[in-house]
Amino acid sequence: MTQYQQVHEGETLVRDGTIKLYGPEGFAGMRRAGRLAAEILDELAGRVQPGVSTETLDRLVREMTLDGGAVPATLGYRGYTHSCCISINHVVCHGIPSAKVLKEGDIVNIDVTPLLDGWHGDTSRMYFAGEPSLKARRLVEITHDCLMLGIAEARPGARLGNIGAAIQRHAESQRYGVVRDFCGHGLGRLFHDAPDVVHAARPGTGPDLRPGMFMTIEPMINLGKPAVKLLSDGWTAVTRDKSLSAQFEHSIGITEDGCEIFTLSPTGQHRPPYG
Ligand code: MF3
Ligand code: CO
Ligand code: CO
Repeated sequence: MTQYQQVHEGETLVRDGTIKLYGPEGFAGMRRAGRLAAEILDELAGRVQPGVSTETLDRLVREMTLDGGAVPATLGYRGYTHSCCISINHVVCHGIPSAKVLKEGDIVNIDVTPLLDGWHGDTSRMYFAGEPSLKARRLVEITHDCLMLGIAEARPGARLGNIGAAIQRHAESQRYGVVRDFCGHGLGRLFHDAPDVVHAARPGTGPDLRPGMFMTIEPMINLGKPAVKLLSDGWTAVTRDKSLSAQFEHSIGITEDGCEIFTLSPTGQHRPPYG
């Protein structure tokens, strides 16, 4: 039985399995945090290129986050010490920034999470270093389509599983694998909250979507099989079959008649190649 909790201004929230329902103050806070997150990703478009190290990109993310009056929610999160996650080629998610340098043809996900005035904006996009192969570019395009098809299902009265069903149907129509080991999540004043937003599901299953629910949708789609493996650093997840993987993430809020995307690019830089 899913429990919902109406959130009141100033209330202390805990991750107790309840789905939080936020009011106008929440929408206003998430709009600001989401916009900053999207602006940071916009700014990175010109910086992702062969020869740049992922720790340089991480430093840029940290500086832009702090300049925006926010802090990276990942800094110090469960022992994580970086300002973003950068996942290259067969890395599915949670790639750790390092001295590693991007090379020609890499596909790269950068995932940022500014915490602004108590609200979490969580979003990621793919980037191209130089010109990737046709099959890599196609995976990235279809993965973005999967995210937007999932978002199109997000409205009051629908069920959470409808989102994953739309994503899975499109990905599998291309014989791509949908990662099961990581999910989207509720967020707002908390970084990771109920519900788990699975990216492969049966339509008509899962909790009801209600106005005021905030969540991320962040499908990870593999050119090969869905299975992932965690590296010994405890963070980096890679495809077991070493196939390429892509991901996009938005933070959304359910409205009275659909949903609002908090992390849309203000300059239209939705997917690569960027202007
Ligand atoms: N931003 C990631 C997400 O989409 C979470 C990263 S947590 C970290 O949920 F510690 F790995 F950075
Ligand atoms: Co997320
Ligand atoms: Co994220």
